[in-house]
Amino acid sequence: LSNLVESKPLPIPPLLEDVNPDPNLAEFHLTAQHGVTEILDGIESETLGYNGNILGPVIKVHEGDRVKVVMKNDLREATTLHWHGLRVDGENDGGPHSGIKPGETWEPEFTIEQPAATLWYHPHRMHATAKQVYEGLAGLFIIEDAVSDSLPIPKDYGVNDFPIIIQDKQLDASGNMQYDPGMNDMMMGLYGNAYLVNGAISPYLEVPKGMVRLRLLNGSNGRTYHFELHNGQEFYQIASDGGFLEKPVEMTSLTLSPAERAEILVDFSALETGDEITLIDTVSELGKTISEDEVEVMKFTVTDTESEAYPIPEQLTEIDTIDPADAVVTREMVMAGVGSTLTINDKSMDMGVIDEVVNLNDTEIWEVSNKRTGVQGGMAHPFHLHGVQFQVIDRDGNPPPANETGWKDTILVEPGETVRIITTFNHKGIFMYHCHILEHEDAGMMGQYEVK
Ligand code: C2O
Ligand code: CU
Repeated sequence: LSNLVESKPLPIPPLLEDVNPDPNLAEFHLTAQHGVTEILDGIESETLGYNGNILGPVIKVHEGDRVKVVMKNDLREATTLHWHGLRVDGENDGGPHSGIKPGETWEPEFTIEQPAATLWYHPHRMHATAKQVYEGLAGLFIIEDAVSDSLPIPKDYGVNDFPIIIQDKQLDASGNMQYDPGMNDMMMGLYGNAYLVNGAISPYLEVPKGMVRLRLLNGSNGRTYHFELHNGQEFYQIASDGGFLEKPVEMTSLTLSPAERAEILVDFSALETGDEITLIDTVSELGKTISEDEVEVMKFTVTDTESEAYPIPEQLTEIDTIDPADAVVTREMVMAGVGSTLTINDKSMDMGVIDEVVNLNDTEIWEVSNKRTGVQGGMAHPFHLHGVQFQVIDRDGNPPPANETGWKDTILVEPGETVRIITTFNHKGIFMYHCHILEHEDAGMMGQYEVK
């Protein structure tokens, strides 16, 4: 499908302006609204956006900032606004309990108490998350700190530091992007037949002949990507979900499941002006609807702008490893998908039930497994925990790969696998844990925990 479309420049979401003159309070205004987007030329799809037709602006804050958000719901239906990856109290987290009715506003306020990272925001209404995210409600939330301020890496937004939100959408025969999942989509998670980056189908981005930083977000409902550059060129992952890795990780292939983020550095300095490098998805996982082996996600076109040289840093940051001996409890989380029944610990999400109670400031190990496989033939589930960033202790007893040794908030658990994660719960309130395949989440593959 992408081959039939003339490539457009990558849209760069604007940085949202802080509208509060008080230097001690950053204030951001978002409005969730109906819009219209031409995915294919001349064919208008009804979409949703924050302050626009599709997706939302980038909110950029600094560690230590006091932040207030005024979120207005101009939709015809209720919504919520969840800060994915942000460490805040439950009442500011924006989960399914924080419903915003049409015409109403929600005004969360919080302090940024975590390191530099690429987080994101999206709605989280019970049983309606998949549709609202699919229709366009999502945006990046970037945190900077003293480490990111001083690191010699590209940080000029829209020039050598780019937001890259990848989502697959199902366009119907007329090119319309409607959320119309079939039975299989509900079971497997929706897989589209077109790849959108920042809301445009297989776009291109002009890049300087030098080092470029990409902030990748898999904002898809169901699809896990296996990214490569078509020329086999290596790149360096410098950050995972919750911030910088200690050291850059050299790689030629990157797996990103729904909701995961990765910041990568790509060096275009050895290329010629006019060269085109394609970011591809090497499709291999179950449930694919695109038949080629490789799918073009987007292109990078090298310009003649020579940028400042950025050597790959030896060290990015220091991360204190949480000692498993400090954990006061190990909780088991058994994810299971059998037919259309999707559960965690054999339960389906019930808004009236608190499944787990955690003591404030306790360190805990959560042992997340995906052992029972049913009709799905054993599919991977990305497990997400609200309100914290965690560390991965091991995968089936083995140390995690280098790019999973930093802070994470979403972790892909393969069929048959058990992943142990560890974190300290420093914020009070009610939070969700769930599979981030949005059709699974909506079907109840979610539970809630309370920190008190
Ligand atoms: Cu990205 Cu519970 O969400
Ligand atoms: Cu799942």
